[in-house]
Formats: sequence, structure tokens, C-alpha cells
Amino acid sequence: MIKVASPANAGADSDFYLPADAFFHANLPTALTFDDVSLATLYSEILPKDADTSTALSETLRLQIPVISSDMDTVTESRMAIAMALNGGLGLIHYNMPAKEQVKEVARVKRHIHGLIQDPITVTPAQLIGDVLAMIEAKRFAFSTFPVVDSEGHLVGLLSGNVVKDRYKTKPVAEVMTPRAHLITEDESAVANDPIKAADYFFSTHVGLNKMLVVDRADRLRGLVTSSDVEKITGEAKARRKPARDSRFRLVVGAALSPMRRADGSLDREKILAHVGHLVDEQVDAIAVSTAHGHTAGVGDVVKILHDAFPQLTLIAGNVTSAAGVSFLAECGSSAIKIGQGPGSICTTRIVAGVGIPQLTALYVASTATKTGGVKLIADGGIAKSGDIVKALTLADAVICGGLLAGCREAPGEIMEISGKVYKQYRGMGSLAAMKAGSAARYGHDKNDTTRKVAAEGIEALKEVSGSVDDVLGNLIGGVQSGMGYLGAANLAELRAKARFIRVSPAGQKEASPHDVVEVSTRTSSA
Ligand code: XMP
Repeated sequence: MIKVASPANAGADSDFYLPADAFFHANLPTALTFDDVSLATLYSEILPKDADTSTALSETLRLQIPVISSDMDTVTESRMAIAMALNGGLGLIHYNMPAKEQVKEVARVKRHIHGLIQDPITVTPAQLIGDVLAMIEAKRFAFSTFPVVDSEGHLVGLLSGNVVKDRYKTKPVAEVMTPRAHLITEDESAVANDPIKAADYFFSTHVGLNKMLVVDRADRLRGLVTSSDVEKITGEAKARRKPARDSRFRLVVGAALSPMRRADGSLDREKILAHVGHLVDEQVDAIAVSTAHGHTAGVGDVVKILHDAFPQLTLIAGNVTSAAGVSFLAECGSSAIKIGQGPGSICTTRIVAGVGIPQLTALYVASTATKTGGVKLIADGGIAKSGDIVKALTLADAVICGGLLAGCREAPGEIMEISGKVYKQYRGMGSLAAMKAGSAARYGHDKNDTTRKVAAEGIEALKEVSGSVDDVLGNLIGGVQSGMGYLGAANLAELRAKARFIRVSPAGQKEASPHDVVEVSTRTSSA
């Protein structure tokens, strides 16, 4: 049963703290965003740690946490997508790369087995120890033990770190390695289901060994598990949220798609179908037709083409900010629709094109179109803190984060140091550099079009490095669960039903942040 307020004196509460319908109508014609509103607390029997954050993007795609990493070339490639899925969320692999590479990136996520390093760095028997030392130096490896393989990938030995020394630099690997006959290995079929459990047993049984080498039937090296990883993972297992997996226990992943066009401007149906076919062959869980303006004939046609060809596939499409846009994309076959035009931290659409709607009002208007059908909404952009996620989830089923994740070590891109601080690049997909790299179609431009000057709708920026995805999501989800606890919401459906809004004045916004103190603690950027 959903309790909304204590019945004895609920009168004043219901006059001031309004449900979404009443609240957004009462604020017409002003559009509002996250900091313009606050949520009222309600009677609660829910401890934050017990609040269930799971959500669904379609009948088949369920997530443990309602957070998706943005399909941007400075946010989501396979490393980010793996980290997102391990934490229960979803990564959308961006499309600013050759189509084949995007398929490979999806395959990397689907084939990822936690704890098993599937493409370990190897050396060959003929290499000199001096070459191995040079490689460690050049690549800054923090380890010096390497499996030794022949040209066909067969395991021929193990080069132990204690012989990778300058004094042996002229010796070939073959002379100082532990040969294959002395190595204890595991067969890949025996460890595939649960490599960590298998490795835990392996290291307990074979005292003193700290590498478990995994081989296939033909004795080709298939992976490696280190005892330190096993210890770390078993230690973290209790703290970690449940991973988001498909029905065959593989991590989930999505891929972004742009409406590919021929030189004459018409949709390249064959190319679209061939590429998505390859992604489906790799078991992709969702395709996101990602554009700046989703309420268009082109995006609708792409969604229809995909829905007809792959009726079981979860289709995400956008972006829109209107009820008509949501209905249109839902009718074309989208299961989830991205809401947001211009709220992103690197977006300049509102400045350049003069269009876009402050995000919370956009979400409310969009949500009015979902009341009858099963279509899901994803709030895309403008999330700067966990409280924004709570507010977004009162109207949507999940959020997409770009800037909040771009500083993580799992995001693509080099770390750079400027005046003693470390940063990662973060750029809008509508920035000139990103459009040149391929994303022009997202903004309705042709990347090869040199005859007219395209207007950038995004900027190139830097984000301070913010640690790991585990840490950032830990803070964000902790905040979401706190919000759910304050509203007495056991799950996200209850959060949506119970949310009561109040408008915040500029003074109220000031009051909401630390004020009139000298701050000494370091708050994380995501908290
Ligand atoms: P945040 O606020 O999480 O926003 O950094 C990420 C979202 O912003 C959108 N995006 C853009 N919007 N110009 C825009 O107007 C751009 O260049 C651009 N690049 C990304 C996108 O929806 C993303 O998820």
C-alpha cells in the first residue's frame, strides 16, 4: 500500500507539496530544471540500503541500477560498458569509430568474464629479456610475469618476474622461462561458469602459485587470473551491486547508431541493417538511435526498419522533449525514449539553435505520453549530482550520465596533468572535433560537407579525474537510495507515485548548498 502522508494533518502538506500533474501545471508557462525544485519528505518505513533501484528499459532488458553511461566518444567504450554492467547499469558504446570496431567493442563486453584477463600480455620464446624490460618500461606495466606463447598462441612457458632482470637482458625468454611441462593450468571449459570460484580453489590447492593460466583443448592460452585479483574481487563482492546480465549470464551492453545516409541524403537501409545485424550476432542488448532531434521522419524510419527486422531487440531512440515526440517514437517501435535537448554539461544547443526545454519540465511533458503504453523514458543530460537523479527518476525510468562518468579511469582518453591537477578530455558529440570524427549525422550534418559551415552544438572540455566507476556509482546510488528512504519509496515505481514537488527560490537554492562556512572536507564531485 502506498502511504502518502500522515492522515491527521495531511491538509497543509497537500496544499503545498504537489504531485507532478498539479505542480507542473501550476508552474506554467515556466519550464523548470533540477535545481528549481525540491522533493518533500514523507512518512517512511524504508531504510536507504533496502531501497530497490532496479528498473527495466524493455520487457527483456532489466538493470539493477537506473544509470546508463552516455554514448559519447569520451565516455563509453567497452571498458566503461563493462564497469557499468558489473555495477548493474548499462553502457552505450558510441559510434565515432569504424562500424567493425563498434561490433568488436560490443563483443568485448559480451565476452567479458569478471576476473579472467582474456587477452593477457604475452611474450615469445625468442624475445630477449632486454626487450621485455623495454616493453615494461615503454608501456609502464606494473607487473613483470608474462605467459610465453608461440606464433599460434600455444602456451609454451611462463616468464616469471624474478628473472626479468637487467642481469639476464641478453638471454632469450626460452632459456629462463618455466617450461610448459612444469606449469599447472586449467581448462577453459572448467572455469568458464565462475572463474573466480575456480581460481579461488586453484590458489588454495596449489600453494605458492599466484597465476592461474587458462588454456583451451588445443593448449592455446585463453586467459589468466591472478591471485591478487581474486582476493580483491571476493573482498569487493559483498559491497558490489549485482551485475546487469542477460538471460545467458553475460553482461549487458548497448550500442549507439546514427541514421546512416547515402550521398543523396536518403537512409542507407542496407548499411543500417547489415551493421545492426552484426551487433545482434554479438548479442547486443539494445540499440540506441541517437540524434539531437528524434521527432523526425529519418529517426522514425530507422526505428521502424529496425523494429521490423529485429522485433525482439530493445530499441532506444531520441532525443525528444515533447509528448508528441514520445508517442511518435513509441509508435515507430522504440521501447525506451531519451529525453533531453540541451541540458548536457557540454551542450550549446540552446545557445546555438535557441531550442530545448529545461530538463525537469521536459521530463514531465514527456511522461504524460507514457501513461497508457509500456514505453520507458530515459532522462538524458544535465545530471550533476545524485539528487538530480532522484528528481529525474520521479518522472523517468533511468538516467544517462556523460559528464559525471567522463572523469573515471574507465572512460576512453588519456589522463593529462595541468598545474598539478589531473584531467580527462570530455567533449560534446556536437563539438566540431567530435563531428569530424563521425558524429555529424547526429546533428543532421554531413562530416564530409566542406561546402557549408556547420554550427557546433557542443564544446570540448576537461573533467577532473574522479576515480573508478565503482566509486562514482557507489556515491550516486547511495544518494538515490537516501532520496528513496526520505520518500518512503521501496522501489522506483513507489518513488514516482509518491513524489511531491515544491518550487525553490534562488535563496532556497543557495540554502541547499553548503553556505556561510569555510569548507574543509573534500566532497566527491559525484555526491
Ligand atoms: P551530461 O550533462 O551528462 O550530458 O554531460 C550528456 C548528454 O549530453 C548530450 N550531448 C550533447 N548535447 N551538444 C548537445 O546539445 C553536444 O555536443 C552533445 N554531446 C552530448 C547527450 O545526450 C549526452 O548523453
